[in-house]
Amino acid sequence: MKSIVSKVAITMALALATSAQAMGHDGECHAELGTAMEDMKSAMRMTAFEMRQGNLEEARNQVAILIEKSEESKTYQPIKTREYEGEDKEAFLANYQEGMDQLLAYLTTMDTQLAEGDVDEAMKTFREIDQHSKRSHRSFKDDC
Ligand code: HEM
Repeated sequence: MKSIVSKVAITMALALATSAQAMGHDGECHAELGTAMEDMKSAMRMTAFEMRQGNLEEARNQVAILIEKSEESKTYQPIKTREYEGEDKEAFLANYQEGMDQLLAYLTTMDTQLAEGDVDEAMKTFREIDQHSKRSHRSFKDDC
């Protein structure tokens, strides 16, 4: 009986240790920013879907969600911020916020293009957003 209890305890301890590792050093690998980003990923997929269907008003509703989530994301600090201190930290955060402003500029452009019924141009902007987020992830995303 005692050995079963200790086996269970060891299994639980191992499971905890493994999940702590997956979360990074300070247990913060998926914070609010990660959740906002996951919401943006869904909204991007829905935007593409609605554009392909020709539902431009629905596509614009998704862009409104993307704008809201980008504004929210701008107020958070990426996990990678912990790698910097002092002026370097300020510069890192300023660059990150600039990246978010750039994203917001693309989203506003895409919204105007959709409002004007210009799906081809909106598709181009969509691809630019995709490129911009890939570049931004290389700069600001921690690989924990
Ligand atoms: C529509 C554009 C974007 C989409 C769909 C997107 C999507 C994602 C996804 C799915 C993740 C992983 C979330 C997780 O941790 O589980 C992520 C993480 C992240 N993204 Fe984005 N992203 C976009 C644009 C950007 C931009 C422009 C920046 C920076 C200016 C950025 C910065 C980050 C950072 C820093 C993380 C890591 C989370 C953290 O440090 O807490 N993303 N993104």
